[in-house]
Amino acid sequence: MVDPDVKQQLDDIFSHYSRESGNLIPILQEAQEEFRYLSSEVMQAIARFLQLPESAVFGVSTFYAQFKLVPSGRRIARVCRGTACHVRGGARILREVENRLGIKSGKTTEDLEYTLETIACIGACALAPTMTVDKKTYGQMTTKKVAEVFSERSKAE
Ligand code: FES
Repeated sequence: MVDPDVKQQLDDIFSHYSRESGNLIPILQEAQEEFRYLSSEVMQAIARFLQLPESAVFGVSTFYAQFKLVPSGRRIARVCRGTACHVRGGARILREVENRLGIKSGKTTEDLEYTLETIACIGACALAPTMTVDKKTYGQMTTKKVAEVFSERSKAE
């Protein structure tokens, strides 16, 4: 049984589309934007709407890296692991962020506030080591600066 709020949000999304299978990817994209990830109940509802087998919807969702099947945090923190950042202590910055958030790279905090990822290069090598939180870039990072970026969170034990 789909949660009534989720159903309402899905109906709003479905109202923009016909039931053609070619609409699968745009619907998945819109649903992910709305819910921040694609739960199995959302994928099942999309399959019903498009009259597709659930396995087809699941197959497409797992094929494309852009789709997330587990909830991600409201904020995405990314630490650069590119060469320029690495030689200037990027690994130490990543460890400090992991420590602050209490999660490893690729994971989401229990309160769903942050997802932590690494990235190959954010294109600001002159500012190495770098990291981002959502659209904001932080350069010349130090462990002290990491503490400032996440000052609202107490350090994980
Ligand atoms: S290598 Fe880190 S910003 Fe380019």
